[in-house]
This record gives sequence, C-alpha cells and structure tokens, in this order.
Amino acid sequence: MAATTPQNAGLSAVPSYEQEQSQARFDALIEQDSRIEPRDWMPEAYRKTLTRQVSQHAHSEIIGMQPEANWITRAPSLKRKSILMAKVQDEAGHGLYLYSAAETLGTPRDELNDQLMSGRAKYSSIFNYPARSWADMGAIGWLVDGAAIANQVPLCRASYGPYGRAMVRICKEESFHQRQGFEILLALSRGTEAQRKMAQDAINRFYEPSLMMFGPPDEQSPNSAQSMAWKIKRFSNDELRQRFVGMIAEQVKVLGMTLPDPELRFDEETGRWIHKELNWDEFMAVIKGNGPMNSHRLERRREAHREGAWVREAAAAYARKYENSEVA
Ligand SMILES: [Fe+2]
Ligand SMILES: [Fe+2]
Repeated sequence: MAATTPQNAGLSAVPSYEQEQSQARFDALIEQDSRIEPRDWMPEAYRKTLTRQVSQHAHSEIIGMQPEANWITRAPSLKRKSILMAKVQDEAGHGLYLYSAAETLGTPRDELNDQLMSGRAKYSSIFNYPARSWADMGAIGWLVDGAAIANQVPLCRASYGPYGRAMVRICKEESFHQRQGFEILLALSRGTEAQRKMAQDAINRFYEPSLMMFGPPDEQSPNSAQSMAWKIKRFSNDELRQRFVGMIAEQVKVLGMTLPDPELRFDEETGRWIHKELNWDEFMAVIKGNGPMNSHRLERRREAHREGAWVREAAAAYARKYENSEVA
C-alpha cells in the first residue's frame, strides 16, 4: 500500500497548513497513547526508526534459528527433539510477523532481505556466539529468550499498531521458550557431575552476552530518548537490564547454579542491582561483524535463501494462477 505521507514532508523550510495538521494529529495520537496505523501520516524519522528497528528484530529472529537448529539432530531424546523443533519453527513465525509489520512501513520484503544478506543490516549480537553443547540450548532458552521477553513485553504497547500487535503473539511464545530452556537446565542440574558442569559452563558463556542484549548503558544510547518520546520504547536499556538481572539472580538459585558475576548484589540504598562491568568493546566488535560466528551465520542465511528459490517461485506461480482463476 502506498504511503499517504508526502516524501518531502518536513524538508521545506515553511511547513504547509496540511503538514502542520498532519503533525498535530500524529502528536495527539502519541499523546493519547493511541496507535499509529499504516494509513496514518507519520514523520519520516519515525518511519525510518521503526523500519530499522522492526526489520532488525525480524532478522534477529531468523538468524537466531541457526544456533538451535544445529542441535535438533543431536537432541538427547525424541521429546527434546520435538520441543526444540517447535521452538525453532516459532522463531521463523516471529520473523514472518515482523517482516510483515516492517513492510507496512513501505519497504518491500526483498529490500529488507537484501539488507540482511549483504551485511548492511544488523541483528542481535547474541546470535554471533556459537552453541557448543546441549546445555547451550538450555542457556539460550533461559537467558537469551528471557532477555528477549524483558525487552519485548513493553513493545506490545509500542505506538505503531502492526508492531505492537505482532509482539503480543511473539511474547506468548517467548515465555514457552524461556521455560523450555530453564527446564533443560533444571534436568541437567539434577543429573551427573558432568551434566552439572556442562550446564554451569553454558550459563557462564551466555550470562554476559545476554545482559548486553539490552544495548549500551543509557548515557551512551543516543536514539533512546527519541524512541521513548515516540512511545516505541517504554523503558530505558538500563531499566530493562535491571529487571532481567533481578529475575535471573533468583531463578539461578532454583537451579543450584551460579551466575559468573562475583560483584552481583542488590544495593538496598539505591534499589538497584550492581553487576560486573560489561565488555562493551567486545559488544561493538561483534555488532560490527567481528564476532566468532558472524560470517558463518550470514553465509548460512544466503545459502538457505538460494536453496529456497524454488519455493518462492512456486508460491508466486500459484498466486498468479489463483489471481487469474474465476474462484473468488
Ligand atoms: Fe522469537
Ligand atoms: Fe524465542
């Protein structure tokens, strides 16, 4: 659907009466906590920010399928295998809802795909770490999907309608993902010494990268204030990280395991969790493409896209046939 927004809105020195009216209506919708829909006028910067955020989110879901899909054939039982398959399929579904939401902002799917495969688009840095053991399936579900939930529950109220509605369904599935991860670790924590060690090792490796999933500290996050004013974001990076740390600090006790953070404690005076200094240099290096698995993940994505060409062609041929048929 073509956007009704004039492409040059905001560029001319003196806004027209219509532009002022459109801006006023947009501001009022945001102010009332109402929703912006694809048909509505929106500032170009809002459209651009959302397109970037929603498409990066979609890319993360799709790339995030890879570390876990690698373990489907090695899952230790039929039950574990079917649960993991269902989870990986859910992630494909999340990617689909989010690409659809991103498309309503005016960028076609092919262009979004191209941005990912050419390496121009970013996705969550966490997926550039390898999944080394079966226990990693537990740590990813518990910590990575857990951090995703903490990030995403507030997004259910994002001001852009299609994004918020997609997030409602995604969050329901993410909570199942987190529980299955926790349950894998719980089973290992009650197992042999080797299984306990494997679980602890997975937690050790995913703890810090999962804390970094919330993004840099607030004072180094320049886009956050505008996203909060537009009610895309509802809480700051540090606020969300605090919530998450508080949650896992309790849950790890049920596992009888530890978080690899000797500095972790709740500070009664400030009401905040103190955690170790996170390695933001590593985070930036991974975001820029230099993580342990970046090139592998992108190469696999390109390969899957090439191998899926026949499916896209068949679907397009079917759609053309359907369009031409007389069946309404
Ligand atoms: Fe997901
Ligand atoms: Fe998930």
